[in-house]
Amino acid sequence: MTKLSVNINKVALIRNSRLGNMPNLLTVAKDCELWGAQGITVHPRPDERHVRYSDLQPLRDQNTTEFNIEGYPDERFLKTVMAVKPHQCTLVPDPPGVLTSDAGWDTKGQFGFLQDVVGHLKSAGIRVSLFLNPEEEMVDYAARIGTDRIELYTGKFAHDFEHDPYDAVAPHALASQAAATLGLGLNAGHDLNLKNLKFYRENVVDLLEVSIGHALICDAIYYGLQNSIQMYLSKLS
Ligand code: PXP
Repeated sequence: MTKLSVNINKVALIRNSRLGNMPNLLTVAKDCELWGAQGITVHPRPDERHVRYSDLQPLRDQNTTEFNIEGYPDERFLKTVMAVKPHQCTLVPDPPGVLTSDAGWDTKGQFGFLQDVVGHLKSAGIRVSLFLNPEEEMVDYAARIGTDRIELYTGKFAHDFEHDPYDAVAPHALASQAAATLGLGLNAGHDLNLKNLKFYRENVVDLLEVSIGHALICDAIYYGLQNSIQMYLSKLS
């Protein structure tokens, strides 16, 4: 079974566009869980344009499913994650001002750094996932680093899916097989949507979790949040 973790960064972005607290991020997170989401994902960035660091502990305190914090492991991020103790921490290699995550780690080149960070988080009982491009060598080094899971970056897949779905998913199928062989859990995320999600899930091995934000929140404008969550869940069942 593949779990749906709803990324609520876009909801925070709307809230942050005005003073005040509308929409209320805590209420939205709680309702996502009520309406079937099996996890909540947030991605604090250094400029806090999406979720704010001050949102994290209250979100963790009320979470009844799985709380996943993504981000680049700078000092502030790591200190906060160690204090908040989410169920899962997904490490991404984003430089500070990036629009959105658009590439995975170089697990070979950053081996020592990632080994230290992953070990640190795991020592606090936090499950760790590394954001990766679907490349077997990167998966192999991720396993040597000692991460629990990997999250495959699906942005390029989503783009290429429009032209040739089988070609687009081929590297993901191979990377998922490598992960399964090495005993790594598999997550995926970025630009997954109602058109490509079912195909993706059917073509990779043992997909444990997807985190979806942008498309799901856009769909919620038309279908409502409760309906949208159900529609995404139906693609995963
Ligand atoms: N995974 C990671 C590491 C991300 O940075 C994001 C975007 O914040 C997502 C998944 C979700 O991508 P999307 O918003 O396109 O669904």
